Amino acid sequence: MTITFIGHGYVGLVTAAVFADFGNTVHVIGHTPEKINNLKKGIIPFFEPGLAELVKKNVEAGRLLFSLDYDPGVKQSDIVFIAVGTPPQKTGDAELSTVYDVAEKLGKNLKNYTVVATKSTVPPGTNKRIERLISEVLPKDATFDIASVPEFLREGTAIEDTLHPDRVVIGTKSPRARRLLIDLHKPIDGTFVNTNLETAELIKYAANSFLATKISFANAIAKLSELVHADGVRVLDGIGFDKRIGRAFLYPGAGYGGSCFPKDVKALISIASDNDYDFALLDQVEEINRQAKRDIVRKARKILGEVAGKKVAVLGLAFKPNTDDMRDAPSIDIIELLKKEGAKVIAYDPKAMENAKKIINDIELGENIYETVKAADLILFLTEWNEFKEADLLKIKKLMKTPNIIDGRNIYNPQQIIKLGFSYIGVGR
Ligand SMILES: NC(=O)c1ccc[n+]([C@@H]2O[C@H](COP(=O)([O-])OP(=O)(O)OC[C@H]3O[C@@H](n4cnc5c(N)ncnc54)[C@H](O)[C@@H]3O)[C@@H](O)[C@H]2O)c1
Repeated sequence: MTITFIGHGYVGLVTAAVFADFGNTVHVIGHTPEKINNLKKGIIPFFEPGLAELVKKNVEAGRLLFSLDYDPGVKQSDIVFIAVGTPPQKTGDAELSTVYDVAEKLGKNLKNYTVVATKSTVPPGTNKRIERLISEVLPKDATFDIASVPEFLREGTAIEDTLHPDRVVIGTKSPRARRLLIDLHKPIDGTFVNTNLETAELIKYAANSFLATKISFANAIAKLSELVHADGVRVLDGIGFDKRIGRAFLYPGAGYGGSCFPKDVKALISIASDNDYDFALLDQVEEINRQAKRDIVRKARKILGEVAGKKVAVLGLAFKPNTDDMRDAPSIDIIELLKKEGAKVIAYDPKAMENAKKIINDIELGENIYETVKAADLILFLTEWNEFKEADLLKIKKLMKTPNIIDGRNIYNPQQIIKLGFSYIGVGR
């Protein structure tokens, strides 16, 4: 099959490379000349494990083609995927101008029969509007069907998730479009969930909001556990064995972040409100998430007495391990709060240093773990990178001014850390 992706971010580039690897011819269209030139040479614009190799292999095989132009990719394609960003507006609504803009451009370039499938996360009703926009500019020799194929990959394991998704959601009213999309996904395992457009659109928001709810629930139980001297992690183990609940995603910590959960929870609250439904549960999910971040700073105050003038080493900036993505990472708010209280913050992350420089003003960055913790009064672990799990804690202790650890991701066994001579506070334990 010949397919096109508009957008080469975490979603567009990963799925494009995987489909190219199955033997399809895949065109990827972007709008930044420098990035497209780099991609043609196999240089990718962000870090995702295994992706650089997969892109390079398929570029060299001539199956993965990058361009700034919609022609000839769109004209030759059986399926065109929209995979551009849908960031949050100030109101919480998803910003859809790029989606509509590229829909119109691709519509003008359609030829013969094409399926236009939206991978971007968009509110119910968006695909119907895309359909209308394309109909208005459609060339005479072209026909098309519209489908919503939301994406569920996770950064850090994006290739694996694309190859082995739990499900592939296909929302369309057209049997012909559905057949083509099922054909394309044949080499991928995962259950097909066949729906109409609005159902597929809402599934994506419901999934991310439910996952964020699980995290906030875990953080609320962790908070309560600290107050009643229970072990929150064991409480969550205890409930997680119940198959109706499940253990996955019930881990307390410094709060959820990233490019999806915060924006999708906000967008679902907005979608509900636009339809006269007050989704108060999600307001609380957000509030508990804000508390989880504030609580890390409260613990810093508790362990240090006073934060002002103290050197705090933040280990972990990315919103989770194995990615360089810092969009809405909890580290941003926590560092901001610490600086407001007068702390001297120095930070290190194995992959997110370049993004940190762009996102956090005035940030001092260390070269590695050991340089960062030198003379520190406190270490805050905010991302559970393997590099931190494997660090030489005795060496760290010797380098620090005062051996204090706040483990915002429950990376370590508290007993072992305390035995080594650290003062230690985790989350919920
Ligand atoms: N990142 C994730 O883990 C993830 C997972 C599932 C779904 N999603 C959703 O998928 C969509 C894309 O997310 P992402 O993380 O890949 O975003 P991203 O910011 O990494 O990538 C967006 C891409 O769109 C491109 N783009 C922007 N304007 C363009 C234009 N006018 N023409 C062509 N390309 C343009 C950008 O250059 C970039 O390559 C979003 O709606 C997101 O919510 C993301």
